[in-house]
Amino acid sequence: MIKNKKYIIVTGGCGFIGSNFIHLINELEPETKIINIDCLTYAGNIDNLKGINEQNHFFIKENITNTEAILNKLPVKEISAIVHFAAESHVDRSIQSSNNFIISNVVGTHSMLNLAKHLNIKKFLHISTDEVYGSLGYEGAFTEDSPIKPNSPYSASKASSDLLAYSFYKTHKLPVIITRCSNNYGKLQYPEKLIPLTILRAIENKDIPVYGKGDNIRDWIHVKDHCEAILLLLNKGKEGEVYNIGGNKEVKNIDIVKIILNKLNKPDSLIKFVQDRKGHDFRYAIDFSKIKKQLNWSPKANFEDMIDKTIKWYQQHPEWCENILNKDYQDYISKQYRSSI
Ligand SMILES: NC(=O)c1ccc[n+]([C@@H]2O[C@H](COP(=O)([O-])OP(=O)(O)OC[C@H]3O[C@@H](n4cnc5c(N)ncnc54)[C@H](O)[C@@H]3O)[C@@H](O)[C@H]2O)c1
Repeated sequence: MIKNKKYIIVTGGCGFIGSNFIHLINELEPETKIINIDCLTYAGNIDNLKGINEQNHFFIKENITNTEAILNKLPVKEISAIVHFAAESHVDRSIQSSNNFIISNVVGTHSMLNLAKHLNIKKFLHISTDEVYGSLGYEGAFTEDSPIKPNSPYSASKASSDLLAYSFYKTHKLPVIITRCSNNYGKLQYPEKLIPLTILRAIENKDIPVYGKGDNIRDWIHVKDHCEAILLLLNKGKEGEVYNIGGNKEVKNIDIVKIILNKLNKPDSLIKFVQDRKGHDFRYAIDFSKIKKQLNWSPKANFEDMIDKTIKWYQQHPEWCENILNKDYQDYISKQYRSSI
């Protein structure tokens, strides 16, 4: 347990998982004060934090690569932990252009590790992804000992940042923990990712792009389960360790789309198969027995119930959706899927 966990830094706290994590901390540990560092890329949205206790939230609009500016803006220097979410997170964008991925994910993580060392923090949680392990066939699941074999510029940048984080643990004794989680779904997710993309386009009766034949398989975890695992590791995880986090719910992409269409009473004819993603990983599956055994964590969400809840959340927040579905977003979607949809 971290002593005097009064102030923690959360990077990327205006993104999907980071904002859900801040809401969770607000609910479960109202005494913890959060310093949220986020430069608000297209994926960052300060509205994601509506409803949190502003007394406990200090927002620093800054790029994580800019250590000096961050140091100057910190409200206090006694910070117990850093939970590092900030990253470029979308595989398709990394295929279009990978520069920002190297800068934010590799250089940015390196800057945050140096900041953590300088501040003498007691825990550094590096939030990574199962994608660093590469792709599986129909059998097996990734364990923490699986080889790192990333296939996309996104996953390669995350793998690089994992290695840097581990090197700071070994070399500088920085108390680093690395988490590798599967695909998240839930409220506040930018609609370039499969589930919110499908929900929002289906609501508008627009074609839904599906790569290849939609046979690729992902393991899905509700974002609250992921955030609870992170909070548990922040309090009780062992430094120098990697922890896999999974949802125990493998589903083919095409089935995800059909489930959502069915729940929204929309026809399967909205599905448009488009040219497959370059280097598309076939399957991810996570063996999370380590965190289960050490810390008694397992995902709690029932997939059917939480998909329902997720769909309802997007339906009940038209103003959030409208703000996101702006011209930049529409330009991105039409460029990404060209004339296919
Ligand atoms: N979404 C998933 O399914 C998933 C699964 C496993 C791991 N992860 C990891 O979790 C983390 C969060 O993912 P997400 O889905 O919430 O991402 P997101 O794209 O929704 O949010 C990323 C946030 O980071 C901020 N950011 C990006 N670059 C920055 C920079 N250079 N300086 C400051 N802020 C910056 C953005 O403004 C945004 O608020 C990422 O590290 C991602 O690799 C995501």
